[in-house]
Amino acid sequence: MKKLISLVMALALMVAVFACVAGAEQVGAGKTVGIAMPTQSSERWINDGANMKAQLEALGYEVLLQYGEDDVQAQVSQIENMIASEVDCLVIAAIDSGALTAVEAQAKEAGIPVIAYDRLLMDTDAVTYYASFDNEGVGRVIGEYIEQAKDLANTTETYTIEFFMGSPDDNNALLLYTGLMKVLQPYLDNGTLVCKTGRTSFEDTCILRWSQETAQQWCENYLAAEYADEDLDICATAFDGFAYGCRSALEGAGYTEENWPLITGQDAELMASKNIISGKQTMSIYKDTRLLAEKCVTMVNAVLTGSEPEINDTTTYDNHVMVVPSYLCTPVAVDINNYEELLIGGGYYTAEQLAG
Ligand code: BGC
Repeated sequence: MKKLISLVMALALMVAVFACVAGAEQVGAGKTVGIAMPTQSSERWINDGANMKAQLEALGYEVLLQYGEDDVQAQVSQIENMIASEVDCLVIAAIDSGALTAVEAQAKEAGIPVIAYDRLLMDTDAVTYYASFDNEGVGRVIGEYIEQAKDLANTTETYTIEFFMGSPDDNNALLLYTGLMKVLQPYLDNGTLVCKTGRTSFEDTCILRWSQETAQQWCENYLAAEYADEDLDICATAFDGFAYGCRSALEGAGYTEENWPLITGQDAELMASKNIISGKQTMSIYKDTRLLAEKCVTMVNAVLTGSEPEINDTTTYDNHVMVVPSYLCTPVAVDINNYEELLIGGGYYTAEQLAG
């Protein structure tokens, strides 16, 4: 009898799961979502695009996915074309967050809801929701990592540090800088941290379009001009691409395992994760793009079905025209001590990918 009950329960569960999947598939049937992504030059956006596409297609949506390759005008045209082809919803990760106002107004006019993906869309009232990570939190976590790794609160040593911050046209970049400096500014003020170039402001350290080449160039210049007699101890960078640029500059300047600095990054890209394992990068910020895609997909569903998505922030993301209701995922620091648990355990990468 017990067996029969379990069998019936198992069958009922299967039917429920099947109904759920079948039902879910219908949600998107006949509807198209246009996704405008910034660039394929950085791995994270390739994953973001692929995750969003797969998750939306699993719900029956058609997906138009395009990359602007860091060309602002190209992204504008791509979005214009999506509007012309009458997509039902737009998901945009902007190249220049303030350069899309005209095309966003067109979308609004055409009754197409717009969702901001990872980067806030500025100066527009056309945006419905925003899915991202806690961007100030990213900076804070990087700062706290440096603080703990160098025991800044207790040490009697001083450490040299240089900063490589994100693109000034990306709202995330200033937030990251703000979070980072909330932790590190006191140590710059009391002399525990020494920035020999004196470049500590956001204006002096932001790198347009998150360019890896610029980061490398700057690092080479800094090492040549300021660090001939004293090593650079910390590269506080806001992006894995910058960490790769610093790595090349440091290798070029003859740094070895003996004096290799602490290098931070963001995104836990595959290459960055391998560099963490080999010691060429110290940490990164793990942003699970599968989770972000999932949150964004619930927003797409909500706007197209008239329901309410999960929102956990209604005060922070003011785009100068409105405060955009947001869902912020939590950023986590990844380094040599927890990469196995986080990245492999979490199914983000396989052990083979990291070994290869
Ligand atoms: C994202 C980061 C990314 C950076 C460069 C930012 O907007 O939030 O995760 O590292 O762009 O692509």
